[in-house]
Amino acid sequence: LNVLSVSSEAVPFIKTGGLADVAGALPAAVAPHGVVMTTLIPGYPSVLSKLMAVRGRAKKPSLPKPIHVWDDILGVRASLIAATIDGTKDGPRLLVLDAPEMFARDGGPYGDPGGQDWGDNWRRFAVLARAAADVAGGAVAALGGFDLLHAHDWQAGLAPAYLKFAPFGDRAIPSVMTIHNMAFQGHFGPEIFPALGLPLRAWSMHGVEYHGGVGMLKAGLEAAHAITTVSPTYALEIREPRFGMGLEGLINARGAHVHGVLNGIDPAEWNPASDPALARPYSIKAMAGRRANKRALEKSFGLTRDDGPLFVVISRLTWQKGMDVLGQCLDHLVGLGGRLALLGSGDAGIVAELTAAAERHPGRVALRIGYDEHLAHRMQAGGDAILVPSRFEPCGLTQLYGLAYGCVPVVARTGGLADTVIDANHAAVAAGVATGVQFSDVDHAGLSGAITRAITLYHNADTWRRIQKNGMGADFTWSQSGAAYASIYANLTAEPA
Ligand code: ADP
Ligand code: GLC
Repeated sequence: LNVLSVSSEAVPFIKTGGLADVAGALPAAVAPHGVVMTTLIPGYPSVLSKLMAVRGRAKKPSLPKPIHVWDDILGVRASLIAATIDGTKDGPRLLVLDAPEMFARDGGPYGDPGGQDWGDNWRRFAVLARAAADVAGGAVAALGGFDLLHAHDWQAGLAPAYLKFAPFGDRAIPSVMTIHNMAFQGHFGPEIFPALGLPLRAWSMHGVEYHGGVGMLKAGLEAAHAITTVSPTYALEIREPRFGMGLEGLINARGAHVHGVLNGIDPAEWNPASDPALARPYSIKAMAGRRANKRALEKSFGLTRDDGPLFVVISRLTWQKGMDVLGQCLDHLVGLGGRLALLGSGDAGIVAELTAAAERHPGRVALRIGYDEHLAHRMQAGGDAILVPSRFEPCGLTQLYGLAYGCVPVVARTGGLADTVIDANHAAVAAGVATGVQFSDVDHAGLSGAITRAITLYHNADTWRRIQKNGMGADFTWSQSGAAYASIYANLTAEPA
């Protein structure tokens, strides 16, 4: 089965969050089930420069010759470059949409260096989606046609709509739309509709129209043959207004076609026994190396050195992630003998509140504002517990990395956090199955209470070690979820009887 996966991010080329981890890992996850997945991403500067780096030591690094050129795709010129995700000849196939007018810009994938969204994001991602529909439909002879298109998040949301309303060829290609985060919907004004190259009949409740404008995620959810989201609990939550964020009606209407498939983690990237970023490797059988990682982490953050609990946070600093509430709980955390090392970036107000807490507690609370992949690994290895107080969390990956690294997750009971962490209540501790701490209300009382519980558990060394090992021994690889996606694809492509 040939599947085209379309995403605005994929590891190792471009990443701002979990979407990139998942899009990057999916091809290998479905491969054992007979699915050949090709991934299409935009040609952001960092993507093109990584492509050139992969091309090795040629004197003048250059991009591979495009395999296809569009002279005019929604008003811009674009070409398609073929490569592989890992740079090896037989690695998972990668397609890069090189459209300099759209993607060759300083700043992030969605906004300028100041963090302001690009005003033409609608066109940037409509071009990506249109290209995806063309490629899936067989526009590129060298690639042949695809059996199915898999679109991720609003940036790819128009792709299923193009397949439905304006396909390239005459073959009907089924599509899957995955929601990684319902909070980002790609909602634009009605004035963009004529520029999308869709027929007028697409301007309807069952097309791309949404509250008088164009909804890109909405369009994908209407047009796709199946909808998935990244955990079973989130698949239920988005049926409610609080989590559905306006799209709960649509989700309920399409209920039978909505599946929750939990994200996995890539053991090649996240394994404390072989992680090159760590001060010292360790494993469930040989935990001693963890201490060296804790010492190294204290040192790199300028924290006092002691054997008390060291909490870490690796997160976007936003309301979704409960980072405002975290700021309110740090006096409590420090008062109980805890320390915190935090890595993240995001809202200025939250950064200011956290910075104030770090200034109140020198040596006890330390921040690194920015993005640092290696440091994220070292924090999972050196921290005792990772705090994830999200108000909603479609899946969440940092708690999974925490489990794998023996960095005990302390999480809000929502979405994928609810599905992946077993709370250390009396019964679970007695049964020897606990893997972390869960709490319900994302507010001062809720998070402070969870921090208190975690610290109490930490001081019971045997219980804590058991909790750590339970997490490290749990299976959060892609094997089950890879099979689940493959079976969704198979059902959609099966010949009707
Ligand atoms: P989301 O995608 O909503 O941000 P996830 O938990 O699914 O949340 O994924 C976040 C991913 O981004 C993880 O791989 C995490 O390690 C990484 N990450 C988040 N913030 C940073 C940061 N400041 N530096 C390095 N990695 C980060
Ligand atoms: C989104 C969600 C996060 C999820 C990730 C990958 O960014 O916020 O919960 O883990 O996508 O699916």
